[in-house]
Amino acid sequence: MKQVFITRALPEPGIRMLKEKYEVEVNPHDRVLTKEEIASGVKDVDALVCLLTDTIDKDIIEAGSNLKIISNYAVGYNNIDVDYATSKGIIVTNTPGVLSETTADLAFALLIATARRIPEGDKFMREGKFRGWAPELMLGTDVYGKTLGVIGLGRIGILVAKRALGFDMQVLYHSANRKPNVEQELGVKYAELDELLNKSDFVSLHVPLTSATKGLIGKREFELMKPSAILINTSRGEVVDEPALLEVLKDKKIRGAGLDVFWGEPTNVNPKLYELDNVVLAPHMGSASLETRSKMAEMAASAVIDVLEGRKPTHIVNPEVLGA
Ligand code: GLV
Ligand code: GLV
Repeated sequence: MKQVFITRALPEPGIRMLKEKYEVEVNPHDRVLTKEEIASGVKDVDALVCLLTDTIDKDIIEAGSNLKIISNYAVGYNNIDVDYATSKGIIVTNTPGVLSETTADLAFALLIATARRIPEGDKFMREGKFRGWAPELMLGTDVYGKTLGVIGLGRIGILVAKRALGFDMQVLYHSANRKPNVEQELGVKYAELDELLNKSDFVSLHVPLTSATKGLIGKREFELMKPSAILINTSRGEVVDEPALLEVLKDKKIRGAGLDVFWGEPTNVNPKLYELDNVVLAPHMGSASLETRSKMAEMAASAVIDVLEGRKPTHIVNPEVLGA
């Protein structure tokens, strides 16, 4: 019987689908596995289902000498050494599309929560400080009518733009490739990065983490932003130079930030972030709805089944492996 190793319990129907066909081993702990544990888990198995919190590097791929597929339970796959997997003929798959609307919702929720100071207000209430309506209590900044700059106009970026249009915002975007069809359909405008940073009241990041996007927003970019601007990051922590961000937030060089992703993930988030009141923090939960996590599990399991049954999976990160 073919064998599958899963690095963390997933929502149904993922595990059930795999158990119907294969011998399945699932991480029994409610935590991220160590490198050694993953290396020992992938030994002899045909398929690995892993998470964005697992670093699947050369050593792990070497340890999995019988691996045919690495199915990442995420859209982002920067945690995997894809080139090395490709060199070994191992298919890498991800879960795009099914999580796009859910992630766009979270990006927009962070945008509004930061602009309108909802978490601060919640804390204020719970601390029993509310003495009634007051003219200058919890003044935030408007969202409607403002300009949103979307960096990375992929599936998620487009859906964030759509939400912004519903709030009567102007939308600028910057992307590796211009998208004339989307420009026409939605009425969003392309801008060079510097112009976008200069003109936007909100800047939301929707690029994958690659060598080209690492540190994309740093000191220079923050200087181009309006002092009233708010940064939203639901992509990967490393797209933003975090020490530079901490500095501008502390010095109030921008108004605030809404963050769902961090440099120190999974276990070493910088505690200095907790001291700032102009930042809204979420624990990497962009795709965290019951419906979406279940669809992702189904997609990750289907990819394994497709490959082990000799079919082409729907979302291959490295189609070169199949000679495509
Ligand atoms: C989440 O960050 C994902 O890449 O799916
Ligand atoms: C995610 O689905 C993206 O490609 O933007």
